[in-house]
Amino acid sequence: MAIMEHTVNIPAREAGSYKISIGTGILDSLWAKIEADFAGCNKFVVTDENLVSAGHLGRLLGRCEVPTYIISPAGEPSKSIDTLISIIETMEKAYLGRDTIVVGLGGGTVGDIAGFAASTFKRGVPVVHIPTTTVAQADSAIGGKTGVDSTMSKNAFGAFWHPAAVYIDVAALATLDERQYRAGLVESVKHAVIADSDYFAFIEENIEAILARDNAVLEKIADCNCRIKGGVVETDPNEQNMRRMLNYGHTIGHAVESASGYELLHGEAVAIGIIGAGLIEIEVGLAKDGRLDRIRQILEKLGVPLELPQDLTENKLIDLIKRDKKAVNRWPKFVLTSRIGQVYCPNDQWAVDVERPIVGKVLRKLL
Ligand code: GLY
Repeated sequence: MAIMEHTVNIPAREAGSYKISIGTGILDSLWAKIEADFAGCNKFVVTDENLVSAGHLGRLLGRCEVPTYIISPAGEPSKSIDTLISIIETMEKAYLGRDTIVVGLGGGTVGDIAGFAASTFKRGVPVVHIPTTTVAQADSAIGGKTGVDSTMSKNAFGAFWHPAAVYIDVAALATLDERQYRAGLVESVKHAVIADSDYFAFIEENIEAILARDNAVLEKIADCNCRIKGGVVETDPNEQNMRRMLNYGHTIGHAVESASGYELLHGEAVAIGIIGAGLIEIEVGLAKDGRLDRIRQILEKLGVPLELPQDLTENKLIDLIKRDKKAVNRWPKFVLTSRIGQVYCPNDQWAVDVERPIVGKVLRKLL
């Protein structure tokens, strides 16, 4: 079975680097690899009820008996400090110590919780991620962002905790619900827009195969995502500057996601945010090449909604943008592109000032 590998060099990590392995159908033999890669460590699995019912936990563990925490219900409502406490106490009951490695099997929520649990258990143990959704394989499993929500905001508790390894089985996407599958692909489109015009053209040419979940094409997609995101994270692991480019489409996107009461999936809100960023680029004179039309066509083929929910207002969105966690003096900077595959980066700044009236004008166009 062919496995592609990327190495992400994270200088801040004691180990210095971690490997991302990509393949089709690797889940069935993965446990033996994890045992070999992390020999001498106790293992503790964090997953959720969807992964159990889809059969992925069974495929991973086979007959091996491994202490496991199954998050229930699956999804954002369980991404809480209560779940974190429950996981830590389950680990304690299993007599686990600092020689433990946490294995997160699942989507973005599982990965965020598993990583944060690992970062806090007995002052920190390693985590490995086995992402099983389009958003987790493209984005959240790579880069070390972990956390849980407070009752007031997302990821209010969190830490950068870079993984010790990431294992991506694109065949695991076969069981993913269609809406989640399509929404998660928006992060792949984002990577192409900000960093690689050839990758963008590949997505354009292969959109039907992507939607049909063709494993060979999905391996190429995973490979490009890991190369792009791994490269950015290597340069700026803790988001001091360059990593901000990964927030393309996210400033408006986060506001839309929150204003929808999380009715919109993250990727769906980011798709609207990407259109918003493209409209800003036109307003400030950065886009004269029709790139927004190409981006819009891909997003339309993905079938994600590109218009704002009816009950949103410009004022509500502006208020949420002012609360963006990266805002300074109540206004965030925006990531923009100078062409497909290239972020606009004057004076080594990966996010730039955009005046409020321009953002207001763009929001009115989206409403
Ligand atoms: N999802 C953006 C980042 O990992 O920085």
